[in-house]
Amino acid sequence: MTSKIIIDTDPGVDDSLTFLLALASPEIRLEALTSVHGNIGIENTTRNALAVLELAHASHIPVARGCELPLIDRAYTSGKNVHGKQGVGNAQLPEPKSKVINQHAIDFLIEKVNAEPNQISIVPIGPLTNIALAIRKDVQFAKNIKELVIMGGAIKQGGNATPLAEFNIFADPHAAHVVFHSGIPIKLIPLDVTYQCLFMAEDVERINQIKSPIAKFIKDATSVYMDFYKSEGIDGCALHDPLTLATIIAPDLLRFEEYHVDVDMSGGVSNGNTFADFMNVSKKPANMQVAMQVRGRDFIELFIERMETLCKNISF
Ligand code: BDR
Ligand code: CA
Repeated sequence: MTSKIIIDTDPGVDDSLTFLLALASPEIRLEALTSVHGNIGIENTTRNALAVLELAHASHIPVARGCELPLIDRAYTSGKNVHGKQGVGNAQLPEPKSKVINQHAIDFLIEKVNAEPNQISIVPIGPLTNIALAIRKDVQFAKNIKELVIMGGAIKQGGNATPLAEFNIFADPHAAHVVFHSGIPIKLIPLDVTYQCLFMAEDVERINQIKSPIAKFIKDATSVYMDFYKSEGIDGCALHDPLTLATIIAPDLLRFEEYHVDVDMSGGVSNGNTFADFMNVSKKPANMQVAMQVRGRDFIELFIERMETLCKNISF
């Protein structure tokens, strides 16, 4: 049975690769994208969502524009140094012809989820602002979502936005707090596992054996992203967001542990830090499953194979 999914996203290089993976995966049916602020401003994240779908001949998939700002305050600066000036590295995508739907992402999410109770999984791969506001706007929404598969947090690993916080959670810790305590079934995919999934220059070259605008996009988009990781001493780049989607496509790649996870929103040095109660000190029941182990290279191989298939299947 195919899973119906909506990706809530702030594209971003690895977000864009996630859409391509979704389109190449028969296990899932991509129902829509909803955009949010994050890696870059909402104008660019929304434009990139439309442009990448257009590149992959998938403009029939609706895109709803979401929130421009986090719930409370903006502690972070943009991810331009990570994802390039417009969010897609060095890729030059034409201005999309398709337009966003005429409904805010929050209302769209509520309507879709409530129309098909327990059928839709949402995959948030950016800050959690849209999801938190949908939870607050309509109490049925949280009851009707099948599950949330969230890219975010750093459990035993250090952060990437600050030494203690991962970017998506740091970009809106208050939204993460609402989501983590909503009672929705959650799978969290933190940096602990995403940093095990490194996409290398030779992987990019392998995909580019096939002459396709999609292969070229992957190369151009990841070059800036790889430069950033080089500055962190890492050869290759971490596919955080595609791995998160792969949790639905190939669940056997990951091992989960159940924890009570909370988020620091003190505004201090650990703002946005996600902490798991390993010792059950709080005696609070687990509120999510956290991915703590992954077969990283197997995931990268799956990703490469799916990209090769996509490149071969779309004629230009
Ligand atoms: C997350 O931050 C963003 O830069 C990536 O797209 C990913 O969603 C990793 O911390
Ligand atoms: Ca992202």
